[in-house]
Amino acid sequence: MNLKDLYIDFFVRKGHKQIPSAPVVPENDPSVLFNTAGMQPLIPYLMGEQHPYGTRLVDVQKCIRTNDLENIGDTYHHTFFEMLGNWSLGDYFKEESINYSFEFLTKVLNIPIEKLGVTIFKGNDLIPKDEETKKIWLSLGIKEERIKETEIDNFWIAGETGPCGPDTEIFYFRSDEEIPEYFDPEDTRWVEIWNNVFMQYKKDETGIHELPKKNVDTGMGVERVVAILEGVNDNYESSIWKSTIKLLEQITGLSYYGNERSMRIIADHIRTAVFISADPTGIKPSNTDQGYILRRLIRGAIRHAKNLNIDNNTDWEQLLAKNIINEYKKYYKELEENEQVVLDVLKNEKIKFNRTLEKGLKEFEKIINNLKDNKLDKDNAFKLYDTYGFPIELTEELAHEKNISVDKEGFKEKFKAHQELSRKGSEEKFKGGLASRGEQETKYHTATHLLNAALKQVVGDYVHQKGSNITTERMRFDFSCDHKLTEEEKQKVEDLVNKWIKEDLKVTKEEMDKETALKSGAECMFIERYPDIVTVYSIGNVSKELCGGPHVTHTSVLGTFKIIKEEASSSGVRRIKAILN
Ligand code: SER
Repeated sequence: MNLKDLYIDFFVRKGHKQIPSAPVVPENDPSVLFNTAGMQPLIPYLMGEQHPYGTRLVDVQKCIRTNDLENIGDTYHHTFFEMLGNWSLGDYFKEESINYSFEFLTKVLNIPIEKLGVTIFKGNDLIPKDEETKKIWLSLGIKEERIKETEIDNFWIAGETGPCGPDTEIFYFRSDEEIPEYFDPEDTRWVEIWNNVFMQYKKDETGIHELPKKNVDTGMGVERVVAILEGVNDNYESSIWKSTIKLLEQITGLSYYGNERSMRIIADHIRTAVFISADPTGIKPSNTDQGYILRRLIRGAIRHAKNLNIDNNTDWEQLLAKNIINEYKKYYKELEENEQVVLDVLKNEKIKFNRTLEKGLKEFEKIINNLKDNKLDKDNAFKLYDTYGFPIELTEELAHEKNISVDKEGFKEKFKAHQELSRKGSEEKFKGGLASRGEQETKYHTATHLLNAALKQVVGDYVHQKGSNITTERMRFDFSCDHKLTEEEKQKVEDLVNKWIKEDLKVTKEEMDKETALKSGAECMFIERYPDIVTVYSIGNVSKELCGGPHVTHTSVLGTFKIIKEEASSSGVRRIKAILN
């Protein structure tokens, strides 16, 4: 059995229920782009809500961390990784938690006790030292010299506020050298493998408070522990990456050794891109948020593929993606279900970037050759972005390899000014669409909501409104979508809207706070532009959107809905023009 199976099996035997991994894009949490830890989707339950699966949970969670993307290429950073976790929601606490961890490590994984060291919470003005945890470790046979007290590192919280508490981190001595008598977490031969957090507090703006229940939250990184168990110092040499690296060697005809950095980056980025684009949230490459990360990852991989002389007209990325899907589909069924979506996302983005990559690299060389000092200015950085599709981070990476710095701040200002312009443009259009409140415009406005709902049903839940413009003559609707709608899709959308019109659905209006509205699944375009109390319009039970109105009261007055045009609007955005007769 592999680590994941052993872990799940062990905790299920200890009365835990296995819960499925949450999507990589958090549901109802706009504060972060991706889930960065196993506990993140469980925050409401750690704060006190009842979990439908009970009080003992175990899982493997898909996580993505993008804060150190530039470190990818070394032996141990990964953008996507899996985190094993077991939780007690007001059930067991320190004693059982530590006993379970110890038993799993020493009896299931057969790690010798001499190779383990632990840290515990030293205490501060607010919270006392964690004596209990120390006693438990001592009782299990961990020597005093192998227990280290720290303050900052042993208090865990996901961000600024939320559930938190002292933790105990378990380290493994990853070296063939003699194990020193005293454990020192600063000595890099000791690597952290597991973190048990005793979440008995919550932090808010006013300070730290006791939670109604004491919880346990633990996290263990799969990639790291598998590498340790297999005795390799480079994570990419472990069984997790074996088939991917081998495939890369076949594709390039090169050995991994001597080409580690580019191969690691390609492997890491394609794996992450596969998981992001297979996520039920349906992220597509774009220039904002998760879509931008996806774009950067794919473009970064393509750039390194070029470094290794991979021919971009071959299907190399399809082969790698298929291999990853194969490796992981047993655990994540969405990979198999969305295989075609994933392959299309990769292919389309590659084709798009391929058109400008070559020219962009030439332009980059030209810029570099004409530099007077070692600085690439904002105008050139912006040109590379705007004309050749180089994410600023790619320009930085290329420049870095030549010891040249990039005026990123200047670029950002330019970028912002550019966005401001297009935002103003779209706001004006948006306003233009809704400001005039004639009868016909009102009808088109309601039809816009129906069209949005129909597109979600027919094309996929990932479809979101990107813009709208209404005149007395027609409606125009922009939405995120990675492909040209097929005739069949268009017909289905049209039929669905007309069906809803015929059903004479009632349009209702409610006021509620923004959070409740979002929790209820209401659709909205620019969340940050809405006040705390929002108006939600529902049409029967087919559509629910945050919206200022106005709308018709019953759908039957809309007449017949007809799509007259479907076309590309911008990258990853399609546009529909439609009329009501
Ligand atoms: N939340 C803790 C961590 O991410 C333990 O799961 O390390």
